[in-house]
Amino acid sequence: MSDELREAVHNVLPSVREDLEALIRIPSVSADPNAKAEVRQSADFTAALLRQAGAVDVEIIDDVEGSQPAVVGYYPAPEGAPTVLLYAHHDVQPPGDPAKWTSPAFEPTERDGRLYARGSADDKAGVAVHLAALRAFDGAPPVGVTVFVEGEEEIGSPKLGDLLAKHRDKLVSDVIVLADSDNVEIGTPSITTSLRGIAACIVEVRALEYGVHSGGYGGAAPDALTGLCRLLATLHDDNGEVAVQGLVTAPAPTFDYPEDRFRAEAAMLDGVSLLGSGSIAERIWTKPTASVLAIDATPVADASNTLIPSARAKVSVRLAPGDDAVRARARLADHLREHVPWGLQVTVTDSDAGDPYAIDPTGPAFDAARTAYADAYGKGVVDIGGGGTIPFVAQFADAFPEAAILVVSAGADPDCRAHSTDESLHLAEFERACLAETLLLAELARRPDARKGA
Ligand code: BES
Ligand code: MN
Ligand code: MN
Repeated sequence: MSDELREAVHNVLPSVREDLEALIRIPSVSADPNAKAEVRQSADFTAALLRQAGAVDVEIIDDVEGSQPAVVGYYPAPEGAPTVLLYAHHDVQPPGDPAKWTSPAFEPTERDGRLYARGSADDKAGVAVHLAALRAFDGAPPVGVTVFVEGEEEIGSPKLGDLLAKHRDKLVSDVIVLADSDNVEIGTPSITTSLRGIAACIVEVRALEYGVHSGGYGGAAPDALTGLCRLLATLHDDNGEVAVQGLVTAPAPTFDYPEDRFRAEAAMLDGVSLLGSGSIAERIWTKPTASVLAIDATPVADASNTLIPSARAKVSVRLAPGDDAVRARARLADHLREHVPWGLQVTVTDSDAGDPYAIDPTGPAFDAARTAYADAYGKGVVDIGGGGTIPFVAQFADAFPEAAILVVSAGADPDCRAHSTDESLHLAEFERACLAETLLLAELARRPDARKGA
């Protein structure tokens, strides 16, 4: 069985690769209000791929006010078999500075076994992995399958709650497979059992009605940018521990993440210290963080010896499993308002909120996954945490508390540079991910107990 499926996956890979590249060429940047047509186009293309792969009732869900189009498609369950929901997202992060890309962001380019492009790993590979599994079964998987491909994950899934309220019936399943995390290293199949949440605010401080001569007035009148920097400096204590009060810390994971490996993967420069305390795994998976993501102020090239009247920054905190994003965002906003120096005026505006989630990785679906992924990779599965956020997970778990949630990699690894320039997908890892998901569907078909309540 495994050999036949291995061959089937091998045979469908060239067509899957071609379709992955075509999908990547559509710049579906959900954060860009000028890219609505492209996000729609990537939804249409995803829908066409599913129809062509034998899915029925393929539909684009675009009737939720203010949402970006999601795609669903179905393979009805054979008698007695569980239904598996395959999740990915077809939207991508903005490409950033084109000059920082070695090859153009939306032109998939292979170099040294990796496919470079925005969305290659995060998460168009996820769409492609699902497609590979469905094609490997020639459009007739041995379990029921619902494919759900979201269109607004990279902007925090703001309308997913409304979508679930309106279309819950379409998404009922026993097992959910999300191909949207990383493997802990190339060749090691990894199940992500916790995800961090996220909360962000935009803080603006105002010191002056307008910019004034820095010589004539500086020394007595404050400038907004220095004030903002002092405010941002209060987010951590001197050891780099987060100083925002009221954020949850979850129990430390036992996973041993070697410091030198982490430093290399995080691209840390020589001599730069780690922030905070505790093991690496705990710092990146189960403790809160605070980061300044962006600042609006006068660019250096435009400096004109004036005191800057106002400045703003986007501040983001990552949240440990067990925290609540909306509550944490309010704590962050309180912190920002309370620590503004020098009586500057301040406005704090809410931005993203996505809940963290901890998964209990036991039961028949996890047994099936451990068997299938170990078989595909030729190596035992490890359980890891995830430092990133997938808002879908907490919302889905809330809507479907019985379903088993498997969060895996579609080929993404610590060097894939998701969200950054030169994002890439490790092609051999992608192939293993395709095989693993195919074997998983076969394995789940052998386990009627994977049906919830069964
Ligand atoms: N695929 C990531 C999430 C992820 C990354 C999970 C690494 C585990 C390990 C996802 O596409 C993502 O980037 N999510 C955003 C969510 C945000 C916009 C609310 C994130 O984490 O920044
Ligand atoms: Mn993703
Ligand atoms: Mn992402």
